[in-house]
Amino acid sequence: ALGEPLKVMISGAPASGKGTQCSMIVEKYNLVHISTGDLLRAEVSSGTEIGKKAKEYMDSGKLVPDEIVTDMVVSRLSRQDARERGWLLDGYPRTYSQAQSLEKLNIRPDIYIVLDVPDEILIDRCIGRRLDPATGKIYHIKNFPPENEEVARRLITRSDDTLEKVKSRLQTYKQNAEAILPNYLNLLNKIDGNRTKEVVFQEIDSLLKKVEENSSSSVQLS
Ligand code: AP5
Repeated sequence: ALGEPLKVMISGAPASGKGTQCSMIVEKYNLVHISTGDLLRAEVSSGTEIGKKAKEYMDSGKLVPDEIVTDMVVSRLSRQDARERGWLLDGYPRTYSQAQSLEKLNIRPDIYIVLDVPDEILIDRCIGRRLDPATGKIYHIKNFPPENEEVARRLITRSDDTLEKVKSRLQTYKQNAEAILPNYLNLLNKIDGNRTKEVVFQEIDSLLKKVEENSSSSVQLS
């Protein structure tokens, strides 16, 4: 309905470009970006109880138990900014049971975007990924090198971005992805993520514009 903020889910294998696209989406649409990976990494680095529990799973490339992640997401989604500005959920739901938790609470997106990228590209993207802990910006040693020496010096590598762990994360993703899809089939938009980030964003942008137009026109009809 008119004035109803956008609700977007973005999914895809490790390194399919979710985080990269989310930062572009947020800049244009001002949605609240809720990335379970980012939330969990923040808990780990500040050494909270959740962080202590999550660390060993994340370091080994395994999924963190559903209840921990679900509580985190549900409490973040219910905050006022998410309800007012709309939300962009990145990396959740990742299992059938997580999808069911949202269904039970009647939390559904307007659109479900899946970024599709071939395995060998995903592996190269993970291995080359670097993060700037100061800004949260995502880089890649070949594709998106840091803009200056100062940034280059502080870049870090994620502990789960080794070849072995990437392979196991990819396998976990594939095992779970299919079980979630039936929940969102009518909202599904699969996008070729193996193009430049600008071209991928153009496609997402036009999908989101359409969703906005549809929701405002349905108000005029009713
Ligand atoms: P999470 O942080 O969600 O990791 P992920 O799904 O593996 O996704 P990534 O962050 O690896 O990749 P991305 O798709 O965001 O790609 P990015 O934009 O960085 O989760 C981490 C861990 O947390 C999990 O393993 C699990 O333990 C736990 N966890 C999280 N959610 C959970 C849940 N719901 N339940 C249970 N446990 C959970 O891009 C990757 C690289 O490619 C970058 O270097 C980037 O610069 C480059 N790149 C991006 N786009 C392009 C492009 N178009 N062309 C060329 N290069 C590009």
